Amino acid sequence: MNKSVVLIGTQWGDEGKGKIVDLLTPHASVVVRFQGGHNAGHTLVVKGKKTVLHLIPSGILHEEVTCMIGGGVVLSLPHLFAEINELEEAGITVSGKVLVSEKCPLILPSHVELDRARERKLGEKKIGTTGRGIGPAYEDKVARRGLRVKDLFDERSFLEQLKINLEYHNFILEKYYGESSVGLQESVDSTLGLKDKLLPMIGDISKELRKRRGEGKSTLFEGAQGSLLDIDQGTYPFVTSSNTNVGAISGGCGVGPKSLDYILGITKAYTTRVGEGPFPTEVDGLIAQHLSSKGKEFGSTTGRPRRCGWFDANALKEVAQLNSLTALCVTKLDVLDGLDQILICTDYKEASNGELKPIYEEMPVWEGSVAGVTSKSDLPVEAISYLKRIEELSGVGIDIISTGPDREDTIIEKNPFC
Ligand code: IMP
Repeated sequence: MNKSVVLIGTQWGDEGKGKIVDLLTPHASVVVRFQGGHNAGHTLVVKGKKTVLHLIPSGILHEEVTCMIGGGVVLSLPHLFAEINELEEAGITVSGKVLVSEKCPLILPSHVELDRARERKLGEKKIGTTGRGIGPAYEDKVARRGLRVKDLFDERSFLEQLKINLEYHNFILEKYYGESSVGLQESVDSTLGLKDKLLPMIGDISKELRKRRGEGKSTLFEGAQGSLLDIDQGTYPFVTSSNTNVGAISGGCGVGPKSLDYILGITKAYTTRVGEGPFPTEVDGLIAQHLSSKGKEFGSTTGRPRRCGWFDANALKEVAQLNSLTALCVTKLDVLDGLDQILICTDYKEASNGELKPIYEEMPVWEGSVAGVTSKSDLPVEAISYLKRIEELSGVGIDIISTGPDREDTIIEKNPFC
């Protein structure tokens, strides 16, 4: 059936979207990224072999699929080609499968330096960014001075604008942050220097997506980061610099909202956050240690340990509305195996200092393990009641449950494409 399915992270990223994109890709002719950049880290495990993707859509492991990078994505060309090399060295075919929008804003080396200099200057008040230049690249786009993929094809005017941008970036780096400047040659090498390699991959994503839909082919839109990191609706200022919610697809790929048929919210069975910012259900001590070590909660982009906490159904309820979620996919249920207490946040109350304190409900724990379970009827009743409570509190049904990192470790109650 011709369908457009969207995958959205419902928390602060790292919900396990990569695995689910990989799992659903055989049903789609194209997988599309529409926002963010190589700040994302999508981990896929196939037959025990791990692949981490940052920029290339997570459908790339499949032969018969086109992977598109929409114009809403900020693009680091050196990173794109490094990721392609890595994949090809691992025996994965990339050539002829990737299409990049000519509208993508380019990330310059000076964007990376500005991102890092700003974080250093903020000190204790830092955002905790991935240090990949994402924020400054989006700033230049919105300021209407940014360089885009299509600009590479008029070398003279590209160089002119590059010099202007670099002069401005270096002024801030040197005069405001007291840091070293970035050279023109480095900036040219990482943009114009890679133009010829990029040329065969450039295309009109919007047109291509519409054409495929007309031909009855299905599309999978792959969100990066998570709803709570959305620049407008997230926990500002501790957010990323793009819109991470479903609304970003229109701008980021040039397709209208009515052409989206099914929106799947990916949610981990507990919560994590990497970087600074509020996290009402954060825990420490033994529970945090359990979630962190069993869930291998270390950032796949920066290697930083992720902060861990209980499931926040109150936040999910809001996120479900923001994204018009059709259904949920709950990931990493197996990480809750072996806990002697499981809490779920149902609401917040405001403390006298204005901080939001979670109100918890205690859920029954289960004996044994749910790891690798592939049928809901094989789950312990306590695990089923945990999932049911998530559905009740969020108002959204669960169609997919992930019980381990491998493709096979999945319970599919309903396939979004069928
Ligand atoms: P930036 O996107 O590098 O500017 O980082 C802004 C915030 O978003 C920081 O808290 C990062 O840790 C967070 N962030 C960015 N990308 C991801 C991701 O893919 N997963 C989880 N957190 C992310």
